Amino acid sequence: MRPLIDADLLQNQSYIGGSFVGEPRLAVTNPSTGELLAQVPDVGSAGAEEAVDAAATALPGWAGTTAKNRSALLRRWFDLIVGSRTDLATVLTSEQGKPFAEALGEIDYAASYVEFYAEEAKRISGEVLAAHRADARIMVLRQPVGVVAAITPWNFPAAMVTRKVAPALAAGCTVVLKPAPETPLTALALAELARRAGLPAGVLNVVTGDAIAIGQVLTTHRDIRLVGFTGSTEVGKILMRQAAGTVKKVALELGGNAPFIVFEDADIEAAVEGAIVSKFRNMGQTCVCTNRIYVHDSVHDAFVARLTDRMRSLQVGDGFAEGVMQGPLVNEAAVQKVEAHIADAVQKGAAVKLGGRRHPRGGTFFEPTVLTGVTGEMTLAREETFGPLAPVFRFIDEDEVIVAANATDTGLAAYFYSQNAARLFRVMERLQYGMVGVNTGMISTELAPFGGIKESGNSREGSQYGINEFLDMKYVCVGGVGSAS
Ligand code: SIN
Repeated sequence: MRPLIDADLLQNQSYIGGSFVGEPRLAVTNPSTGELLAQVPDVGSAGAEEAVDAAATALPGWAGTTAKNRSALLRRWFDLIVGSRTDLATVLTSEQGKPFAEALGEIDYAASYVEFYAEEAKRISGEVLAAHRADARIMVLRQPVGVVAAITPWNFPAAMVTRKVAPALAAGCTVVLKPAPETPLTALALAELARRAGLPAGVLNVVTGDAIAIGQVLTTHRDIRLVGFTGSTEVGKILMRQAAGTVKKVALELGGNAPFIVFEDADIEAAVEGAIVSKFRNMGQTCVCTNRIYVHDSVHDAFVARLTDRMRSLQVGDGFAEGVMQGPLVNEAAVQKVEAHIADAVQKGAAVKLGGRRHPRGGTFFEPTVLTGVTGEMTLAREETFGPLAPVFRFIDEDEVIVAANATDTGLAAYFYSQNAARLFRVMERLQYGMVGVNTGMISTELAPFGGIKESGNSREGSQYGINEFLDMKYVCVGGVGSAS
């Protein structure tokens, strides 16, 4: 790995009860070069239980401290993250592969959640409601849910950590974080910065290792009261079933299958830029990435020509190389999925306009690919590709395209381009998605509620709504107070 300015940010042990512990033995490699970056421990179920115990022990002190104190510690963590953004991005690109400029952007995005919830910690409030009897008072308190398990994915090794951990800590919860096995080093570096910020021992714990053994503890342990997960719908359903045994809250951010619709009255140049942004962020590996592009018949050819031109300029290579905009995919299985979607589409009549193959660099690099003549019978219409594949469908009618866009079990993000004001309202209201980008391909910000409907999940992260997941509501009825008048 490139040398870090602050070498102590490269931690290779789990973080439990305020100490880095465990024998490093699971390899973490660079997906671009195959280089061994570090080894981390497999703490197994015993280590996971230790971490839950540490979080449970720390809970009363953390929940009992003032909101102002929690806010100040989060703010210090934010300042340290911003101060180490270059090192954090170096670790991130090394273990994840995304271009360094994009990794810097992710660190800033990750930091923004810490900053936002440092501010929000002080705004948690309850209510006094109109009472049912003259001598009674009804109070509503909002209290931390307790120990939170956060299980985070490899595609955003920093931002998905802070988007769960920061609101949990702001609410007064303590946390056991399980980062993805592919990308634990960014999470451990963030934990080291949290330690330096002064977070008390046990308030944040990071466990590395076998997902099944650790996940089993985190979803069944009586002291965990909420499981937050970002990842596939398939795994989300398993975790939900496991958590049902102790009736935990589950906050799920799962897969998507985002449609991107270009109407005949769209600004085509802007739509192409939006498609590039929403399709090729993180090499097509985000759950809000465009998966299906629907273009009106009358502008189809102009759009495809411009999109293909723009995609030709997307330089593929190592994330640290100058000018690179597309790194490797996460692993061989990811490459095979892209290949399978292309093969199925071509076999059913689609045409490859650009790319279509593994990149000559080898490894898990793949060529940015455009397919035309795509139809709803193809696998890529139903499944999320999670790779650099832009399939273009042709449509004629607004009703027809909305039916097609909604024909999926998931409902995370959708995008459309139009300059017709009446259509903007009609279409945004009819799309069955938790988030809609209108004339933009970039919707992610800490200021907005991120989340889906249907099989894309059941919670919201970010904004003033995101902290609600981590707060229980308690109704208190105070009797015998007497009447106010
Ligand atoms: C994700 O892909 O899980 C998150 C993407 C984002 O926050 O924009």
